[in-house]
Amino acid sequence: MVEQVRSLVSEVEHAVSAAMAAELPAELADQDPLVRRSDHADFQSDIALALAKKADQKPRDLAERLRPHLAAVPWITAVELSGPGFLNITVADAAVVKQLAQRSEQVRLGVAESQSGQVVVVDYSAPNIAKEMHVGHLRSTLIGDALVRVLDFLGAEVVRQNHVGDWGTQFGMLIQHLFEHPGANWRNTEVDQVGNEDATSALDALYRAARAEFDADEAFKERAQRRVVALQSGDEETVAAWREIVKESEIAFQRIYDRLGVLLNHDDLAGESRYNSLLADVVEELWRKGIVEKSQDALVVFFDDIRGPSGDRVPLLVRKRDGGYGYGTTDLATIRYRLQELKATRALYVVDARQAQHFDMVFRVARRAGWLTDQDVVHVQFGTVLGSDGKPFKTRSGGTVRLADLLDDALRRAQEIVTDRNPELESAELEEIAHTASVGAVKYAELSTARTKDYAFDVDRMVSFTGATGVYLQYMHTRIKSIQRRAVDAGVGEARFVADLALKPQERALSLLLDEFAATCDAVADALEPHRLAGYLYALARTFSSFYEACPVLKAESSEIRANRLALCALTGRTMARGLDLLGISAPEKM
Ligand code: ARG
Repeated sequence: MVEQVRSLVSEVEHAVSAAMAAELPAELADQDPLVRRSDHADFQSDIALALAKKADQKPRDLAERLRPHLAAVPWITAVELSGPGFLNITVADAAVVKQLAQRSEQVRLGVAESQSGQVVVVDYSAPNIAKEMHVGHLRSTLIGDALVRVLDFLGAEVVRQNHVGDWGTQFGMLIQHLFEHPGANWRNTEVDQVGNEDATSALDALYRAARAEFDADEAFKERAQRRVVALQSGDEETVAAWREIVKESEIAFQRIYDRLGVLLNHDDLAGESRYNSLLADVVEELWRKGIVEKSQDALVVFFDDIRGPSGDRVPLLVRKRDGGYGYGTTDLATIRYRLQELKATRALYVVDARQAQHFDMVFRVARRAGWLTDQDVVHVQFGTVLGSDGKPFKTRSGGTVRLADLLDDALRRAQEIVTDRNPELESAELEEIAHTASVGAVKYAELSTARTKDYAFDVDRMVSFTGATGVYLQYMHTRIKSIQRRAVDAGVGEARFVADLALKPQERALSLLLDEFAATCDAVADALEPHRLAGYLYALARTFSSFYEACPVLKAESSEIRANRLALCALTGRTMARGLDLLGISAPEKM
């Protein structure tokens, strides 16, 4: 067990709870003491207002009775009553500094393993084989990656599942087309640098060619349909072709993952086809339990309150009329597998909000079947990526934008900006910085937006050095590093929290914000919202900036003040780096 550092806010909560226990009957004293940061003091508690009625007292009177208990706490320096009954609480500088000192002694910065014991299955990225990965998959990939990192840091056992779309009737036409056009070039061509064709593009072209033929030529369509049957019944030659296609696609996906620096790898692949052998059994179990019913020779599940525009009930299709299975059946198999075999206490599906109804139905069936009981199963939805025109993001000709092109674009802009700022940099270093900056920019733009909202993909804004951008945060990190370097070079590098100093308001503000790091990580894990951490890091960067303006570090008034400020710089730098890492963004030393 990691030793945990209790944050100041939780110390204050304890103090308020103790005051409540002294003044109120047990059933009221047990309540959350409602402590938060305040504009008027360090913290405020709204508990007197919340409990007044139940305690049969006026809020101000209740607050007045709680006050002396708080005032008696040695490290609380002031307790004031304001408004209708708020308690404004100020803590001693020494308490603030002591807290940070403890935090800075730990690699984990005092963050407790609050998720230990949880087994969390995270389904994310999940692009479709033989098709381009598009911006929607980018969202899933980046949100999923951040959640995985945060949950893992907080001690959960995380199981990554990349549910790639590697099965379905479309493979019939793809394979048939390939067999009939043996010369078609769809394999991995030389790919590495900017702009080259890659396998998914070639596969995407194959897909479009096959689709066109399928739509135009009845005879081909029939051959393609027969090919589906051959694939499903395990025909060797057909299965071999399918494997080849899947493999090529996966290589292309991995290339994007590596470029983005997301954690996904080969071992995380658990695509639709993996569940094939389970589907018949899943359907059988649902049939036995009386959950599915026959409807026009298909097997379906109905829900009274899920209806289409015409008022008809919308079914979850479990087995098609021809005996085949679809996306819904597979997801019934995934949920059963994740809950029963992987023993998930939490299962997250990081998927586009447009699939909300699908997941609602799948989760409800899982509940009816008794697979889903007290586990936490969540469709972690996200909105659409828009272009700068506010419409869904498309190329000028209306096609989907290739992810690789998009990253290339961000890279080019970052190169321009970095070159502008550091004309003397060597090109290898410049490349490295531009890469780090562009990936960080794309990720931060994604992760700083509340995931349920749509957001506009605007490369120029993303790579800007000002405003809430990844580049700004990375740059602030490098500034902190450079302050530390300069102190060391000047022979005054000692960083040490000094307990008996009087803090300036900017030092307090920075310290109290550093104190919120653990609570922010917990909030991300609970609400599954990485943007809370992204917003926190931006606030941290700004607060550091005001601190640095108001409080000279190298030229501090005394060596103790300087050591304390350098300790603050160091802790801010580490918190920033750790926080960025949890978002999957690297924190460079220089840029
Ligand atoms: N491949 C699907 C798509 O591109 C996403 C799959 C999400 N995961 C799942 N278990 N259904 O839309």
